[in-house]
Amino acid sequence: MPVEFLGIAATNDGSETGPRSGASFDKEYTLRLARAHEDYGWDRVLFAYGSGSPDPAPAAAYIASHLDRLQILLAHRPNVSYPTFAAKTFATLDRISDGRLTVHFITGGNDHEQAREGDFLTKDERYSRTREYISVVKKIWTTHEPFDHEGEHYRFEDFVSDTFPVQQPRPRVSFGGSSPAAYAAGGAEADIYCLWGEPLAQTAEQIESVKAAAKAAGRTDVPRIQVAFRPIIAPTEELAWEKAHRTLARIRARKADGTALIRHHTGNPENAGSQRLLAVAAEGERHDRALWTPTAAETGGAGNSTALVGTPETVARALLDYYDLGVDILSARGYDLLDDAIDFGRHVIPLVREEVAKRDAERQRTDG
Ligand SMILES: Cc1cc2nc3c(=O)[nH]c(=O)nc-3n(C[C@H](O)[C@H](O)[C@H](O)COP(=O)(O)O)c2cc1C
Repeated sequence: MPVEFLGIAATNDGSETGPRSGASFDKEYTLRLARAHEDYGWDRVLFAYGSGSPDPAPAAAYIASHLDRLQILLAHRPNVSYPTFAAKTFATLDRISDGRLTVHFITGGNDHEQAREGDFLTKDERYSRTREYISVVKKIWTTHEPFDHEGEHYRFEDFVSDTFPVQQPRPRVSFGGSSPAAYAAGGAEADIYCLWGEPLAQTAEQIESVKAAAKAAGRTDVPRIQVAFRPIIAPTEELAWEKAHRTLARIRARKADGTALIRHHTGNPENAGSQRLLAVAAEGERHDRALWTPTAAETGGAGNSTALVGTPETVARALLDYYDLGVDILSARGYDLLDDAIDFGRHVIPLVREEVAKRDAERQRTDG
C-alpha cells in the first residue's frame, strides 16, 4: 500500500522554538508554507484547531483555491457547531477543493480548553457526542431524502442538504485519541486513526486497541493508521544531534521567557495521549532507531512532540519501521516549519517512497 505524508498548514511562522513574526493569520506565509508542501512531495496538510486560532475552514478554502494537488485535512471540534451546518461546510469545501478534503474530528483532550468555547461535558461524554456527530455528518453527506434524527446529543427534523461532496460516497473521516473512550468512538467511525509518535512496541499496542474497537463495533475493515513525529534531520548524525539539542535549548528558553504557546498541558495532562508521551519520556530519552523524547517532556506531551533525530537515511529507516508495523500515513512537522518542510520533502520523503515501493513489489511477487 502506498504511503502518504501529512504536513502542517500553519497560518503563521511561530512554533515552540520561536515567536511568530507577523499576524496569527499571515495570509502570505500560509500560502507559502502550503505551496512548499505541494512542491516537495507531500500529500496533505493539517489545518489544526485551537480555541483562539484562526478558523481553519476558510484558511483551508483559501489554500485549496490557490493550489491544485495538495490535499486538505481539516480539524474540526464538534462542540463549535451543529452537525447539519458542519456537514454543509465540509461538502462545500470538498467542492472548492475538487475532492481533496478529509475531516479530522477533535473531541478535545483538555477540559479548560473546551470550556473556553462553552463546552462543559466530561471527556467521555465528549467522545459519545463526537461519535454521534460523525455518524450524522456521514448520513447528511450521503442522504438525498429529508430525514429526522433523534440521538443522545442532537435532535432535528426533516433535514436534507442541497450540497454534496465531490468524493463518493463521502470524504474520509480522521480521528485521534488514546483513551478507551477514544478507541471505541474512533474504532467505530474513523477511516484514519491518528496516533502521536510513541516507540514501536507502544504503537503496536495502540494499533491492536484500534483494531479490537473496530471489530467490537461490527466493522469488517479497520481504520488506516497515522503516526506523527517532529523530525530533526541534518547531513550527519553528529550535526543532527547538535541540532536536536539546539532545538531543545530554544524550547527551554522560550518557556523561560514566558512567550511560548505551550499552555495546554501544565501539570499532569488529562489527555491520555499526552500522558502516554510523558510516560515514554520518563522511561528514557532515546527509543528504537531514532525516537527522541525530551522535546515531548519539555512541552508536557502537548500533541505531536516526539522527535526523530538523524540523517535523512536514519529518519527514513525509522519511519519504515512504523510502516512495517502497519502505519501507512506518516505525519511530520519540523520546528522551523517552512525550511523543515522543504528539507524533509526533499531528503526523506523520496527515500521512504522508494523503499515502500520495493517492499510492495516484493510482497506482490511473493503473493503472486
Ligand atoms: C494526530 C492528532 C492531531 C490532533 N489535532 C488536534 C487539533 O488540531 N486540535 C486539538 O484541540 N486537538 C487535536 N488532537 C487531540 C485529539 O483530537 C483528542 O481530543 C485528544 O487526543 C483526546 O484525548 P485522549 O487521548 O485522552 O483520548 C489531535 C490528536 C491527534 C492524535
